[in-house]
Amino acid sequence: MVSRHLFGNIYGGFVMHFYCFVLLFLRLHLASGDVSYSVAEEMKRGSVIGNIAQDLGVGTRKLSSRNARIDTDGNEKRYCDIDSKTGDLVVVDRIDREGLCGKKASCVLKEELVLENPLELHRINIHVQDVNDNAPQFSEDFIAFEITESAVKGARFPLTQAHDADIGSNSVQRYVLQNNEHFNINVDIEGTGLKNCELILVKELDREQDKELKLLLTALDGGSPQRSGTAVIHVTVLDANDNAPVFSQAVYKSSLPENSPLATVVVTVTAADADEGPNGDITYNFDHASVEHGSLFTLDHKTGEIRVTGAIDYETETLIELRVRAKDGPGLTSYTTVIIDITDVNDNAPVISLKSLTNPIAENVSPGTEVGIINVQDRDSEKNRQVRCSIQPNVPFKLVPSIKNYYSLVSTAPLDRELVSEYNITIVATDEGSPPLSSSKTVHLSVADVNDNPPVFEEQSYSAYVTENNKPGSTLCSVTARDPDWRQNGTVIYSLLAAEVNGAPVSSYLSVNGDTGVIHTVRSFDYEHFRSFKVHVVARDNGSPPLSSNVSASVFVADVNDNSPQILYPSPEGNSFMTELVPKAAHGGSLVSKVIAVDADSGQNAWLSYHIVKSTDPGLFTIGLHSGEIRTQRDISESDSMKQNLIVAVKDNGQPSLSATCTMYLLISDNLAEVPELKDISYDENNSKLTFYLIIALVCVSTFFLTFIIIILGVRFCRRRKPRLLFDGAVAIPSAYLPPNYAEVDGTGTLRSAYNYDAYLTTGSRTSDFKFVSSYNDNTLPADQTLRKSPSDFAEAFGGCDESPEDLL
Ligand SMILES: *[C@@H]1O[C@H](CO)[C@@H](O)[C@H](O)[C@H]1NC(C)=O
Ligand SMILES: *[C@@H]1O[C@H](CO)[C@@H](O)[C@H](O)[C@H]1NC(C)=O
Ligand SMILES: *[C@@H]1O[C@H](CO)[C@@H](O)[C@H](O)[C@H]1NC(C)=O
Repeated sequence: MVSRHLFGNIYGGFVMHFYCFVLLFLRLHLASGDVSYSVAEEMKRGSVIGNIAQDLGVGTRKLSSRNARIDTDGNEKRYCDIDSKTGDLVVVDRIDREGLCGKKASCVLKEELVLENPLELHRINIHVQDVNDNAPQFSEDFIAFEITESAVKGARFPLTQAHDADIGSNSVQRYVLQNNEHFNINVDIEGTGLKNCELILVKELDREQDKELKLLLTALDGGSPQRSGTAVIHVTVLDANDNAPVFSQAVYKSSLPENSPLATVVVTVTAADADEGPNGDITYNFDHASVEHGSLFTLDHKTGEIRVTGAIDYETETLIELRVRAKDGPGLTSYTTVIIDITDVNDNAPVISLKSLTNPIAENVSPGTEVGIINVQDRDSEKNRQVRCSIQPNVPFKLVPSIKNYYSLVSTAPLDRELVSEYNITIVATDEGSPPLSSSKTVHLSVADVNDNPPVFEEQSYSAYVTENNKPGSTLCSVTARDPDWRQNGTVIYSLLAAEVNGAPVSSYLSVNGDTGVIHTVRSFDYEHFRSFKVHVVARDNGSPPLSSNVSASVFVADVNDNSPQILYPSPEGNSFMTELVPKAAHGGSLVSKVIAVDADSGQNAWLSYHIVKSTDPGLFTIGLHSGEIRTQRDISESDSMKQNLIVAVKDNGQPSLSATCTMYLLISDNLAEVPELKDISYDENNSKLTFYLIIALVCVSTFFLTFIIIILGVRFCRRRKPRLLFDGAVAIPSAYLPPNYAEVDGTGTLRSAYNYDAYLTTGSRTSDFKFVSSYNDNTLPADQTLRKSPSDFAEAFGGCDESPEDLL
């Protein structure tokens, strides 16, 4: 009843049950003499446990009179007391079952009711009944787990248990885990208690998905109302290297101009690793297969930056494929491909190569001849390899494009080695890159000789002057011919053209040095024999076939004063017959006689002058300086000696001059009766031989006369029949005897006017060498012609001198 009242308000349905339970105990205790009560813990103070007076059968009045009181067994705390008015046992202190008994299944408070007078002791057992007044409680709010993500399914992780001070069904009955996909909770039930509570992994963890999990774990007791406690399970997912690095691109493409400077960044590869820490630490490396390019590129192991470290050459490789490996700490790897497209830069100049060359090339090739073949290559591509080729304009060659990148070098004009013997043909090749590159090659081409030039004499004709009486072998002159051809084709050999001069082979007069062209005389020349002649010198080269040309060389023999004047009259021997009669009555200025002299030389050398060297009476006679005429200077007087002797010197005008002397005997008398004195005169001078000389003189005169007649006839005859003989002895005798046309010689030795020759014959002629020509006009030099070296002039002037002597006559 008390119980009912007590709990009625709070725990509705539970009250009835408890009431019956109490009644059961009361009857039991009554039977044994002790009193037992059952009471729920945590009852309010003053709550009635039972009416002990009634249960013991003791009247209420007795209770107070017998001084009833509750005594604790020992020193224990007093939880209940007796109400002496009603006899109710009431709660006086908080009864906490857990505090009193802990986990013991039955918790009994032992009290004693003491009655005095007489002393009566009744034991009171108060069974404290558990009430679900404690919720399950975890020892900590956070249960931390560190579970590696590599943990396999089914792995178990023990949990600490929740604690519930209550007992029995009021203690923890089950656990509820927050709904999640990874874990389940498993509780082993051993007897009444829960043991071995653990988390079971039902689905693998992935740190990369969830780094941590927070799961609410609820522990539930079995009380009514049910109480619960919670804890948060904090699962930290530990990283396992379960992720390989992943590149951001499967293939990296990059374009790189060749010759990029060092350290140019080509591309940066990046890989991500979902793992963390060392597991996500990525290092980049070139794959083994890309080692060959290791010298061209470097890969930053940390940043994945690929930089240029070598010479990138498009011409070597246009596309470079690199394999890059990313590796995390423990060694998971992945690969990517880097494709580097190298772009061309115009870095290769065209290369000109000479495939063939006809060198040397003969100078007589016709225009259009292919001389060489040239090939031009450019290693670049596209526009950068388009090449234009040219050669310099000032050579007679051109480039003719041929198949592909071949060109023919073709001559465009006739060649002449003698003008240009070699060509440096510069070929320039330029590509069309930007900027364009060009290169050049010089082809050296020599022109080979062909014997296409005959030797050419430096002069159109040569003239040589030699004074007579020259030494044989002396140098006369030299001829020179030039042949511009090469080597033997231009080597000149001189020779004399075979001919006859004056009936003798030309080689007996002159010789020419075949190498030098120096002409030597072979014999000594005599001006009095011939004055000039003409030869032809041939210059021939050594080619095959040889070419030649010839030139005429005229040789002029100059006079030397090598002949003394020849006195024709009077005889130089000085015969006394040669006496001139001078009439006594001769007046001053009368022509008495004449000295006749000739000189085989010519010009000044033959210009004679006459002088009286000695005379009997120096004042009586004079001699014409050039005429040789002896004239009286004054009238003859009686006192003059009858016999007059004159010694006359005849001098030519040569340097040095030569002279001859003669003696002229003059007899001043009117008749020959006085001739006998002549003997005396001569006897005076040449006494003993006079007679003898007279006889000889007579004989001589006769002989001379006869000879003269014969010669005259002979000359006439020979003029028609044998002209050649006459030339040999022909000597021009200046007509000293014929004053009107006597030649004068000017400073140059040119005969100024024509001079005539007449035939004279005197007793003084000793030889037949002297042939007197009537006219020498045609063969003398014209007055205005000097000895210039003008071949044509000479040819004209001496045109006939070597041809036929008869022209001289
Ligand atoms: C060609 O070149 C060579 C060498 O450079 C040089 O000796 C020669 O004189 C040149 N010839 C011409 C015709 O320029
Ligand atoms: C001379 O010319 C001929 C052709 O006329 C040629 O064959 C030869 O080679 C030339 N000689 C030299 C040394 O050039
Ligand atoms: C000499 O030269 C002339 C022309 O210059 C030529 O006609 C003649 O045949 C040549 N004589 C010889 C023997 O070569």
